[in-house]
Amino acid sequence: MEARALTRRFGSFTALDSVNFDLRAGEIHAVLGENGAGKSTLMNILSGLLRPTEGELLLDDVPVRFTSPADASAQGIGMVHQHFLLVPPLSVAENLLLSADKAKGGPLSWPIKDVLTETKALAEKLGWSLPWDALAGSLPVGTQQRIEILKALRGETKILIFDEPTAVLTPTETPELFATLRQLAAEGKGIVFISHKLDEVLALSERVTVLRRGKVVASLLTSECDAGVLAEAMVGSQPPQPLSQTHTPGPLPSTKEGGEVISIQNLTWGKLQNISFTVAPGEILGFAGVDGNGQTELADCLSGMAKPQSGEIRVEGVALIPTPKAVRDARIGVIPADRQKRGLALSMTITENLTLGVQESTGFRRGPFLDARALRNRAEQLIQRFDIRAEGPDAKASSLSGGNQQKVVIARALAGEPKVVIAVNPTRGLDVGAISYVHRALREAQASGAAILLISTELDEVLTLSDRVAVLFDGKLMGIVSPQTPREELGRLMGGAA
Ligand SMILES: Nc1ncnc2c1ncn2[C@@H]1O[C@H](COP(=O)(O)OP(=O)(O)OP(=O)(O)O)[C@@H](O)[C@H]1O
Ligand SMILES: [Mg+2]
Repeated sequence: MEARALTRRFGSFTALDSVNFDLRAGEIHAVLGENGAGKSTLMNILSGLLRPTEGELLLDDVPVRFTSPADASAQGIGMVHQHFLLVPPLSVAENLLLSADKAKGGPLSWPIKDVLTETKALAEKLGWSLPWDALAGSLPVGTQQRIEILKALRGETKILIFDEPTAVLTPTETPELFATLRQLAAEGKGIVFISHKLDEVLALSERVTVLRRGKVVASLLTSECDAGVLAEAMVGSQPPQPLSQTHTPGPLPSTKEGGEVISIQNLTWGKLQNISFTVAPGEILGFAGVDGNGQTELADCLSGMAKPQSGEIRVEGVALIPTPKAVRDARIGVIPADRQKRGLALSMTITENLTLGVQESTGFRRGPFLDARALRNRAEQLIQRFDIRAEGPDAKASSLSGGNQQKVVIARALAGEPKVVIAVNPTRGLDVGAISYVHRALREAQASGAAILLISTELDEVLTLSDRVAVLFDGKLMGIVSPQTPREELGRLMGGAA
């Protein structure tokens, strides 16, 4: 496939500016770029979801125009999106039927048996056995992703596009995905792979195209690059500062003198069993552990999304019955794991999203009404402070790039000088520069005395930022250790060894 001089404008904003891109059969071609560089926009054009404003697409040297994703799919192009598009209350088989090829008669005339037979054959070729009757929403993310891959893949698929597929995966799921991608490429399919992780790009791809603010700034052979070359191409003149260089360890938190901001006693809910710990002012307590060992449940309890069966949560000594409002009133800032489902109201503007939570504060009201001007000013300041790249405070959250959506969620959580911050995978999907920004923002909140719970599947992130590291396994707290603990020992704890 070849894209020639593709330009895409949204209103007066140019998201892609005369982009050239090509993909060969059997290659894995990585696309890199900062948050908002235009990666998803380009892929949405290649897969028929968006139309280019200017420029053309060629497939096997023949000009093509896609009228819809179904049209692109019929011509051999599939895409696995950055944010999954499965229908959670439907079964795996039903989800597959929904995306069944219209050309072959559509869901009504194409019996589910045929869809399943074809899909099962594909799954078998990839070595997967899937729970076809299970509800899609109940499955681990890695399995959901496999269903997305099967949806995108048909016998005649020539091109598969993966938009940040590893952002949601656990460290054990990523190598499995890579094996799948290599197998698909070996069958002669062209693969586009988007990632912010330079080591993944270096390990997997044959060529790399780098986008910066809508333009192609580099098109390289991976064998001729290293992480430094790629990082510089992405950000231009100012290479991003890796965290280890920007991080100056502050005084160790006053676990003894300062008492505790938040204390959890015998918390039990769902998978969680009898969890107890405290976090001191200015302390970051990291939670390490393989995804699915109680992290979600812990975050849900502490953010007011779930009511614990038993146990006690106290903030500055005051018992907290966790509801979203009580959590807000206790000045607990929450960065939820799923920015689209829980972090944002996608159809609302940036200002409106940043207003949620302060709508009752006197500073933002005029009598019974919201003070629109004050709220807009505040939004403008937060957009500046958190480097949210968007058209302006009136841009809809749905129009933001994935990474910039994440920044809105983080801005809202940290804006009100929280006493406690619950951060779940706060840097998921962010580019290198934005990651060090978020790390600095968490450090600032720490320096101003907040107690921070950092729940992250990125072990490096947990170890670099945390003062103490708690390990969860199967809903139990295996121990709280120093971040200097040897990795093998951490690994053993994460695997459930006492
Ligand atoms: N529907 C839309 N309306 C207005 N602007 C849009 C729309 N879709 C994308 N944009 C803008 O186009 C730019 C590129 O967005 P895109 O989603 O392609 O970035 P990206 O490179 O995928 O970033 P990320 O790594 O954060 O996912 C962003 O500034 C975004 O706000
Ligand atoms: Mg994107």
